[in-house]
Amino acid sequence: MPRVAYVNGRYIEHRRAAVHVEDRGYQFADGVYEVIHLYRGRLIDEAPHLDRLDRSLGELGIAWPVSRAALALAMRELVRRNRYATALLYIQVTRGVAPRDHKFPTDTRSALVMTVRPISEFPAEMRDEGIKVITIDDLRWARCDIKTVALLPNVLGKQAAAESGAYEAWMCDTDGFVTEGTSSNAWIVTADGTLVTRPAGPDILRGITRQAIIRIAGDMGLTFEERKFSREEALEAREAFLSNSSHFVTPVTSIDDTVIANGNPGSLSTALHGRYTEFMDSAPLALSRG
Ligand SMILES: Cc1ncc(COP(=O)(O)O)c(C=O)c1O
Repeated sequence: MPRVAYVNGRYIEHRRAAVHVEDRGYQFADGVYEVIHLYRGRLIDEAPHLDRLDRSLGELGIAWPVSRAALALAMRELVRRNRYATALLYIQVTRGVAPRDHKFPTDTRSALVMTVRPISEFPAEMRDEGIKVITIDDLRWARCDIKTVALLPNVLGKQAAAESGAYEAWMCDTDGFVTEGTSSNAWIVTADGTLVTRPAGPDILRGITRQAIIRIAGDMGLTFEERKFSREEALEAREAFLSNSSHFVTPVTSIDDTVIANGNPGSLSTALHGRYTEFMDSAPLALSRG
């Protein structure tokens, strides 16, 4: 079974799938995207992801390429054709193909590409041992709340992390407060057990997993504060973790080579990981059986 991609209405063998050289996503990073976790046949938090896509498109004045209902059908058809139980579904919308000119084109249809990338199930060692993080300056623009394909600072940050033997880079603003990871939101637990993450504003992406964790933390009766925290506070934290759609809640056990607490994943991070997994298990299947 070859892997299949969706390109502007057509289902194409992945290795042959391509977009035009004058696609504005390629020329100007003039596009947005979403990543939805297909977890054991379930599309996790599909509606909030499509709501965020709608918002990203709206903020940049890019039209929906197809209706939301048509997109949901095409997503399912792509999932059906690829036959993976666990994968990441990428949805990318650009302002379309037009002769190179910075201004918006007038008669151009938005372009839609979707791919499905199989992934292995969450590695137990990441949950049981945690991961390393480095900190770097946040070099991004002032609208990080829009999920654009312009990811160059994130790419450089992730590469710096990899070269330091770390999994993620936490970006810090000019005052030394952590904004978020290059592909994740950042969290700490303070000495008194308060769960802390940066408020959703233009300086971070409002993670869909972040929203789910806030809801779960409420259900668990945890004390939660949405406020900025500095790199120094993170180094002293009782626990640290990151969240995103592919790695849900991943404990962070070292930051810039400083071991966090006793170096083991914290109990709250582990509990939230477990609750989030239960939440995923309870999501409806993307395709009806049979
Ligand atoms: C910069 C950034 N922040 C946060 C997140 C987490 O978002 P979500 O939980 O919706 O995956 C991502 C996800 O890729 C991201 O790229």
